Amino acid sequence: MRILYNLEELEAAKNEYKQYSIAFIPTMGALHAGHLSLIDKANSVAEKVIVSIFVNPLQFGPNEDFSQYPRDIDRDINLLKSKKVDYLFCPNFTKDELLKIKQLQAEPKLADILCGKFRKGHFDGVVTIVNYFFELIEPDYAIFGEKDYQQLKIIETMVNNLSLNVKILAAEILREESGLAMSSRNVYLSQSSRIKADEIYKNLCSMSAEISKILAGDIELNKKIQRIIDSYKEKFINSGFEIDYIEYHWSRILIAARVDGVRLIDNIGV
Ligand code: PAJ
Repeated sequence: MRILYNLEELEAAKNEYKQYSIAFIPTMGALHAGHLSLIDKANSVAEKVIVSIFVNPLQFGPNEDFSQYPRDIDRDINLLKSKKVDYLFCPNFTKDELLKIKQLQAEPKLADILCGKFRKGHFDGVVTIVNYFFELIEPDYAIFGEKDYQQLKIIETMVNNLSLNVKILAAEILREESGLAMSSRNVYLSQSSRIKADEIYKNLCSMSAEISKILAGDIELNKKIQRIIDSYKEKFINSGFEIDYIEYHWSRILIAARVDGVRLIDNIGV
C-alpha cells in the first residue's frame, strides 16, 4: 500500500494507476470492520483500490466533535495493510485551504431533513469534500455505507445532478454481535452506555416487523406507521435516550439518538 500525503504524491500515483479501473472509499479514519467491508466490495468491482482518511472540518458544526473525533493513523494503516488496498490518501488540508475549493450545496430536499435538521450545513461540507476528492482521484467507482443512508442518497443525487463520471455503490451496514451498528464514535461509549445503545437496533427490528405487517394489510398506512414510531420514541425517551429523530423515509426507519451525550445513528429497511 502506497501512502499519499499530499496532492503532488497523489498526482504521481495517478500517472501509475490511470490505466486501471479504480474504486475509491472516502473515510474519516478510526477504522473498524464496517469500513473494511467496503474495501472487499471495492476489490470485487475494480482493479485498484484507494482509501482516503481525512477528518473533514467542513462537515462539523461549531459545537460538534471535530477536535475530539477519534484519530489513530498508525492503527488505521495497520488495519488497511491487512486488506488489499493499493493507495491510502491522507492529506492534511486546513479548513482555510478547503474554504478556497468549490463549495457545493447538498440538495435541500434531502439535506434539510433527518440529520440535516440537527447538523446545519453538515451535508454541504460532505458533498464539497466528496466532490473535491472525486475531482482529484477520478475514480470509476466510489463505495458508501448504508449506515449513513441519508449521506448515500445525497451523494447519489449530487453525482446525478452534476453528471459526474463515477458509479456510486452502496454497502450493507456491518454490526457488532449485539446488533449495534459499527461506528467510529462507538469508542466514546462506556460499557453501560453500550448496553443501552444496543436497544437501538433491537427496537428498529421490532418496529420494522410491526410496520411490515401493516404494509401487508395497507390500511391508513401513514397514521399507523406514525403511531408505531411515536410509541417507540416514547419508549426510548423513557429509558433515557435523547432522540433527535425517528422517521420513516425510503421504506426505511431512520434514527438519531443520543446515549449519555454520544450521538448515534442507525437505520433499517422495512
Ligand atoms: P466515515 O464515518 O468514516 O465513514 C466512511 C464510510 O464508511 C461511509 O460510507 C460510511 O457509511 C461507511 N460506514 C461506516 N460505518 C459503517 C458500518 N457499520 N457498516 C458499513 N459501512 C459503514 O462518512 C464519512 O466518514 C464522511 O462523511 C465522508 C464520506 C468520508 C466525507 O468526509
